[in-house]
Amino acid sequence: MSGKGQTILVTGGAGYIGALTVLELLNVDFEVVVIDNLSNAYQASSQQKPECLLRVEELTKKHVAFHSVDITNKEELNSVFQKYKFDNVIHFAALKAVGESVAKPLDYYKVNVTGTILLLEVMREHGVYRMIYSSSATVYGLPDKLPLTEESRTGNCTNPYGKSKYMVEQILQDLCFSNKAWSITSLRYFNPVGAHASGNIGEDPNGVPNNLMPYIAQVAVGKREKLSVYGKDYDTPDGTGVRDYIHVTDLAVGHLQAIFHQKPSGFQIYNLGTGRGYSVLEVIEAFKAASGKDIPYEIVDRRPGDIATSYADASRANKELAWHASRNIDDMCKDTWRWQQKNPDGYKNSSSVICPGACSLDSKKRAV
Ligand code: UFG
Repeated sequence: MSGKGQTILVTGGAGYIGALTVLELLNVDFEVVVIDNLSNAYQASSQQKPECLLRVEELTKKHVAFHSVDITNKEELNSVFQKYKFDNVIHFAALKAVGESVAKPLDYYKVNVTGTILLLEVMREHGVYRMIYSSSATVYGLPDKLPLTEESRTGNCTNPYGKSKYMVEQILQDLCFSNKAWSITSLRYFNPVGAHASGNIGEDPNGVPNNLMPYIAQVAVGKREKLSVYGKDYDTPDGTGVRDYIHVTDLAVGHLQAIFHQKPSGFQIYNLGTGRGYSVLEVIEAFKAASGKDIPYEIVDRRPGDIATSYADASRANKELAWHASRNIDDMCKDTWRWQQKNPDGYKNSSSVICPGACSLDSKKRAV
């Protein structure tokens, strides 16, 4: 399917999942406008847009418009909506670190909840009623039973990050109920990992990674001494936590499918996962095989707030969005490893990785 003739606003499009989604959108000929406040994206002072988007342009040979905008600033949002006529909004912009959310709840509610409300207000003022929302399996909290379906109980979240995602889903549902003009799709991601197959676009965590896969990758590349495995006394086959890891490119494609199959009206929810869980020890083994590196680890106490097992029933997305995850754990580890090796410091100090003096887009064309 083609996105020709449609313009999509991507908030948070300079983030990990955002940038990979922008790339897939461009590949099928959508026009893309990114807004991002660069709170978690690298941009050299000499560059006019974040490094990850420059790389997206190199890979796709297409242009992406970029505006440095904070979603909590309504005037900035307004000016972007005045400039373009959007057909749809993919809303990624949010804070996402679970631990930090416990320490800074107001920041999380301000950006994730208030920021979304302001965005929705501006959308309504400009007659834009379609959104794809970046939600999370975190809205399920402690699962009653597995696999998790879209009908599973939600709201039992243990931290402000999870609660903010849950609250926004409630707001979106109420909004769609209030006015049939709205069509909003919430995508509940399980555990996104991996990188673009080129190894040029991937996850670039700020400081010490919170999540398993980037941490393992940094151990493999020698940046960190060993992995701490948080608990080996869970009620799982090997005692370590089990999660449904999903390749970020499969996840990105899920957003395109959500646009192509969007209903004319109402609030829809879809799980995006593979339907298969892997334990921490299984992920370590898979990464060792993919990288040929040893991954030293030690078992430590459980991490507060962690659950034993989480995996998706993704059959609704399979059926209604014609989507399924096609990349397996080996692909996820191989692509993460390629990205980590090519970019040991993330996007910093490496702006020539794919463009050693012979860029196809000149700097003028790159500027918005
Ligand atoms: N783990 C370790 N060591 C680490 C990091 C993680 O053993 O250094 C374990 C965790 O205990 C868990 C598994 O690896 O069993 C996965 O942990 P992640 O931190 O990678 O992912 P989570 O499932 O905890 O969190 C993810 C997202 C959150 C989201 C949550 C629920 O990162 O944003 O899923 O959907 F809220």
